[in-house]
Amino acid sequence: MTVIVTGGAGFIGSNFIFHMLRTYPSYRIICLDKLTYAGNLATLKDVMDNPNFRFVRLDICDRQGVYRLFEEEKPDIIVNFAAESHVDRSIDNPEIFLKTNILGTQVLMDACRKYGISRYHQVSTDEVYGDLPLDRPDLFFTEETPIHTSSPYSSSKAGADLLVMAYNRTYGLPVTISRCSNNYGPYHFPEKLIPLMIANALADKPLPVYGNGLNVRDWLYVEDHCRAIDLIIHKGRTGEVYNVGGHNEMRNIDIVKLICQKLGKPEDLITYVKDRKGHDMRYAIDPTKIHKELGWLPETKFADGIQKTIDWYLTHREWWEEIISGEYQNYYKKMYEEK
Ligand code: NAD
Ligand code: TYD
Repeated sequence: MTVIVTGGAGFIGSNFIFHMLRTYPSYRIICLDKLTYAGNLATLKDVMDNPNFRFVRLDICDRQGVYRLFEEEKPDIIVNFAAESHVDRSIDNPEIFLKTNILGTQVLMDACRKYGISRYHQVSTDEVYGDLPLDRPDLFFTEETPIHTSSPYSSSKAGADLLVMAYNRTYGLPVTISRCSNNYGPYHFPEKLIPLMIANALADKPLPVYGNGLNVRDWLYVEDHCRAIDLIIHKGRTGEVYNVGGHNEMRNIDIVKLICQKLGKPEDLITYVKDRKGHDMRYAIDPTKIHKELGWLPETKFADGIQKTIDWYLTHREWWEEIISGEYQNYYKKMYEEK
């Protein structure tokens, strides 16, 4: 079995590659990644010499390049993680989100049609469902919840999802889609909430909480997401969407306070800053379908996962310090200094 994992030098894609190489020693895993600011070869250093692994630097929008790779490798399965993934960047500059997230998906699926595959899997997000009100804790996103996006990021992911379903219906492409809640764990890029707060707290820098900090996210340990995708590509029904989440809703402010407590840092580092434009209030996944059909359940409790994650950031300082010492500083200035 040959699997192409796009975006495998990023956060979830790299964790998925590690999971697949561990779980299926006979599979050939090819990582296709453009290495944008979010892609990092250092993340893949432990698998680079694995004879079952190949890294190819390529843009998923590069049709010729993608076709050439399909011709060479004759993949059976494509798992598409490659995306621009940060909501704040999408608010600042939407265009690259539409290019990579929608047109890149189209190129990959055209290659699948041309060369033939047994499965194309689209890694989507719960953000395509928009948000839920804080005063209705009884509401959850199911696979039937209408698509109703808020940010250019979520709109581009929703656009891609619609195209994936259209390729299934129109051309019979064997596709599946997963829509997962917020992930956390090792190799999470430090622009995102949890690693940003860990890095800032360790440097005794202000912890910038957007708005009133009461927005709710539904957090899942990254390895649980990887196991869900593994199950879907092997046992999921084609043409289907599977929501992935572990009923672990937390307010942003509580996450930040927990990180302060675990690192022994004072809560007065917390600074309330201008809210994100169009900020979604609450995400909450109903994972009944993937549980009933595929037997998936999360294995890592938040209390254990957050401890493992903090320990990982403490023992892998060189990985994230390298990132935040470079171009990231300009990003941080632009995004936070006028907030
Ligand atoms: P990430 O930003 O950490 O990684 C994205 C990777 O894609 C990087 O390695 C980057 O170099 C690569 N990439 C970007 N544009 C590319 C292009 N044009 N061609 C090839 N490679 C390109 O993102 P992540 O957090 O690992 O998210 C991965 C996927 O999972 C995304 O599709 C995202 O929408 C989805 N998702 C993320 C979360 C989350 O909490 N992080 C939750 C649900 C779904
Ligand atoms: P993020 O990690 O960007 O994920 P998403 O927006 O895709 O859910 O943000 C998680 C939550 O944390 C979101 O409600 C915005 C908030 N947030 C902050 O309060 N401060 C920050 O510096 C960042 C990056 C996020």
